[in-house]
Amino acid sequence: MDTDSDGALQRNQRTPRHVAIIMDGNGRWARQRGLPRTAGHREGVKSVRAVVEESIRRGVEILTLFAFSSENWRRPRSEVNVLMELFMSALRSETRRLHDNQVRLRVIGERSALPGKLQRRIAEAEALTAANTRLHLQVAANYGGRWDIVQATRRLAAEVQAGRLDPSQIDEYCLARHLSFPDLPEPDLFIRTGGEKRLSNFVLWQAAYAELYFTDVLWPDFDAAAYNQALEDYARRQRRFGYTGEQIESGLWSLPDVCVG
Ligand code: IPE
Ligand code: IPE
Ligand code: MG
Repeated sequence: MDTDSDGALQRNQRTPRHVAIIMDGNGRWARQRGLPRTAGHREGVKSVRAVVEESIRRGVEILTLFAFSSENWRRPRSEVNVLMELFMSALRSETRRLHDNQVRLRVIGERSALPGKLQRRIAEAEALTAANTRLHLQVAANYGGRWDIVQATRRLAAEVQAGRLDPSQIDEYCLARHLSFPDLPEPDLFIRTGGEKRLSNFVLWQAAYAELYFTDVLWPDFDAAAYNQALEDYARRQRRFGYTGEQIESGLWSLPDVCVG
């Protein structure tokens, strides 16, 4: 992977390699129309399709979508059921199209708590698309940023207990290697639709240096044009990673490989 400072600087000015999105606002979209909240979730599938297609067109390499948080189980049972069914039916209807478009699908999160049928369908879709390289689509389901850090910590603790790791060897890179997607660069652009300005326990560790973009557009209304606005906003920003603006402009800076993937 391209990790030299020139490459990173060029990426700064252009398209983000990795975009992470909190797809929020489905319920309000539906309520504004006098519809049940679940109608917003159904409509939101169209936006997923639009953002996947536009990501491919714009050369985004990785797209991580927050579909269901570890806290969303707190919602009414009926809404949770519809969300699980929708995930099932979207996998059924979209997997072939994703595969034809050379999209690799991966689900991140604690999947053992998802319905068994859904777990099997996820595994099938991941296996079918495993060799695709055009776009890496990660769907976060029963995912929480804190869960991710805790499960990484647990794995490190097991290595220490087994005598394979000394606590003094644990640093941030070591911990990051046990998080959900250690093989991929961290998100460059973090988008939240629906108007709220909070992280809601999404990729907490990996978004440490992501550019944040908040829009009032509700997820079912988030189309290719709205996505392009976010990408254009990103392209105008200067990422500094702790350096000064002058250092960044001079090009005399670099990041450890582990930070940029
Ligand atoms: C996001 O939309 C989808 C999920 C969290 C599953 P919401 O359902 O949170 O919509 P609002 O925020 O209530 O409008
Ligand atoms: C975050 O949205 C989770 C997803 C979009 C899947 P929420 O609607 O659950 O977030 P809060 O509860 O408003 O913070
Ligand atoms: Mg919400």
